[in-house]
Amino acid sequence: MLKKESIHGMWASRWVFIMAATGSAVGLGNIWKFPYITGVNGGGAFVLVYLLCVALIGLPLMMAEVFIGRRGRQSPANSLRDVAEESGRSTNWQFVGWMGALAGFLIFGFYSVVGGWVLAYVSDMAQGTFNGAGAEQVGAAFKGLLADPVTMLIWHSVFAFLSMIVLVKGVNEGLERSIRILMPALFILLFVVLGYGISTGRFADAFHFMFDFEPEKLTWNAVLVALGHAFFTLSLGMGTMIAYGSYMTKQASIGSTAMAVVFLDTFVALVAGLAIFPIVFANNMDPGAGPGLMFVTLPVAFGNMPMGQIFGFLFFVLVAIAAWTSAISLMEPSIAFLVERFGFRRPMACLVLGVVGWLLGIAALLSFNEWSNVHLFGKGIFDFLDYVTANIMLPLGGLFVAIFSSWIVKSRFSHEELGVSALSYKLWFYVTRFVAPILVLTVFIFNLFFQ
Ligand code: PHE
Ligand code: NA
Repeated sequence: MLKKESIHGMWASRWVFIMAATGSAVGLGNIWKFPYITGVNGGGAFVLVYLLCVALIGLPLMMAEVFIGRRGRQSPANSLRDVAEESGRSTNWQFVGWMGALAGFLIFGFYSVVGGWVLAYVSDMAQGTFNGAGAEQVGAAFKGLLADPVTMLIWHSVFAFLSMIVLVKGVNEGLERSIRILMPALFILLFVVLGYGISTGRFADAFHFMFDFEPEKLTWNAVLVALGHAFFTLSLGMGTMIAYGSYMTKQASIGSTAMAVVFLDTFVALVAGLAIFPIVFANNMDPGAGPGLMFVTLPVAFGNMPMGQIFGFLFFVLVAIAAWTSAISLMEPSIAFLVERFGFRRPMACLVLGVVGWLLGIAALLSFNEWSNVHLFGKGIFDFLDYVTANIMLPLGGLFVAIFSSWIVKSRFSHEELGVSALSYKLWFYVTRFVAPILVLTVFIFNLFFQ
């Protein structure tokens, strides 16, 4: 028998759900990762593939995850199990939830390290470290941070601890208020940086870099990274949106809600890119600088604009909060699962999972210094965690969710849940049934054979 309410609590309204889901989606993926992988993968063509993946695969899958959660009213694994059972299908589908919980962990490991970098920069900004700084000085400062495991450990620990604190209380307490203020403020400060970018006179170059379509730059690996990032940035393929959907009220329309979240997430990523690349070009920096891109460009901007110290401080605080509301959503699926399946009390589940995630983060941060020669499949630990989760586990999880929601769940149920017009439903159904799985499989297969 399906449940009416989640034992973990419920969002008060559709609006709170949008807030929470946007809080999960908008994070380091938009501000840190999107600009850096766009730079590494050559710009325009990559961005176009990413946008296509968001629209064609991301949006329908977000709708699918939310409805599975809302119908199952439990952690991802248990929701998948019960929704499958209701349609008379195998309960083994719950394994998709387990894989997702594992992916959430692995992501948390490196996510918390980057969250720690952001906190380190909050402290630098407060002290005016970058006032008047040039590109060289800022680059050296970031290198110094990577070479210093103790400083990274401290900030990573603070970040991980703050995330677990919210999780102990439960995600719907306190989350709404922080996001309601955070989102508009983050937008405003992104526009401040964008304004600085425009003042460098290199905005046009940035625009061309991001939107000129040069297909010769596109490799199959870049397509996979774009696809994987569509999942990562929308918090899909690992159960977060199933977990958050399970706290959603019955009345809210899933279609328009998902659309709002996808739109906001994409908007933040594009503005972040347009803010960062003019700084790159104005200072003769390398757009393909990698994971440090945001940390070597933004301090130059804040160090050289009027009131930059205050803006910079606020900006990094807001990025830290955005990262924080995402980090908690990475852990929610596995915490809910431990509580439901093994009768853990919530604080205990948080403690156990938090410690494991924290240890993983330590391994990730050591890969920049003490353990820099440790390689898994040719990658350092940090890169490995990022690569397996975003480029393999999330697309695979998404593939299973697509198959599950349109081939396994009876379409009477999915139609009832989604609450969209007959035409939109048809569109959703065929895209989820055929287009999304075929696209994901194609990208996987081509990556195996053409590197
Ligand atoms: N979407 C988040 C971001 O872009 C990261 C995330 C991925 C959160 C998967 C939850 C689940 O920063
Ligand atoms: Na995102």
